[in-house]
Amino acid sequence: MRRLISISSLMLLLTGCQRAQSSLYPAGPAADKLARMSWLMIITFLIVTAVMWVLIALAVMKRRGSLDTHEPVGVGGGQGWIAIGGLIIPGIILFVIFVLGLQLMASFPIHDPHMADMAPQIRITGHQWWWQVEYLQGGVYQHFTTANEIHIPAGKPVTIELRSADVIHSFWVPNLHGKVDLIPGHVNFIQIEADHPGNFPGTCAEYCGAQHAHMRLLVVAQPADEYQAWLEGQLQPGVEPAAGDAQQGEQVFMAGPCSNCHQVRGTLAGGRVAPDLTHIASRQYIAANSYANNDANLEAWVTHAQSLKPEAAMPNLTQFTGEQLRELVAYLRQLK
Ligand code: CUA
Repeated sequence: MRRLISISSLMLLLTGCQRAQSSLYPAGPAADKLARMSWLMIITFLIVTAVMWVLIALAVMKRRGSLDTHEPVGVGGGQGWIAIGGLIIPGIILFVIFVLGLQLMASFPIHDPHMADMAPQIRITGHQWWWQVEYLQGGVYQHFTTANEIHIPAGKPVTIELRSADVIHSFWVPNLHGKVDLIPGHVNFIQIEADHPGNFPGTCAEYCGAQHAHMRLLVVAQPADEYQAWLEGQLQPGVEPAAGDAQQGEQVFMAGPCSNCHQVRGTLAGGRVAPDLTHIASRQYIAANSYANNDANLEAWVTHAQSLKPEAAMPNLTQFTGEQLRELVAYLRQLK
């Protein structure tokens, strides 16, 4: 008994430590509708399955004779049962689910022209294999670009424009919304809202090449004042290192290949083909939310990106000395 209690409390702990990346744990109005539909379907199918098992059990208990003496039972009649149980009841269930599904789909205005008129607050562009995130609120001087980590104010709907730079991707943050595709040459819209502050992990939900599984993202919903502070921080140019390793690292970054592809606003690094690194140190993960953002992973990423994420556009940069690598990472880690 004691063991049973300790096992069940362990399981409670396991489920308690993370709100799973699951559409059954909704944290916003859109996900709420989808979760209700999912539960309706799950419960309906469980009831149907239970009825089937009861009928099977009844048939087994009503069998006549042993296997040796088994005689064929009469097969007359029963067609009525087949019509009701095999056609009419499934037909009604599937029709109701179909109509509810159509209604649910119509409530998500992903191609709604009215929504297209509404200025999106964020533009997300899918790349193989990362998410470019542009904040478009306010005047053009308040626009900025970041990557893979999307901050939103909790309790407010946020309109997002979805585009693709290459192949079809799909934006999916299960706690907040269903999947919406990012299609080359086509613009979709999505409106997400988080009921409460929190971190909501997401992922690309459409196979898009070798590193589809490492095309992850994070939505960070914050209270209004924290969100405002984050916005203001992101608008600042990259922190200029005062001295030491980080200052040496800035020179390594500018002189090396890094600045050809990556941007650090306020410096000579103006590359636009790879994630904007102006505030890389403020993000929780690197490599499209695949690895924790720390010194060790950054060093590994610079030198062995092709082992951590084969076929990604980031090459293995093995030309740095150990000293230069440490300085480079020190520079990146202070870009808060
Ligand atoms: Cu992008 Cu899968």
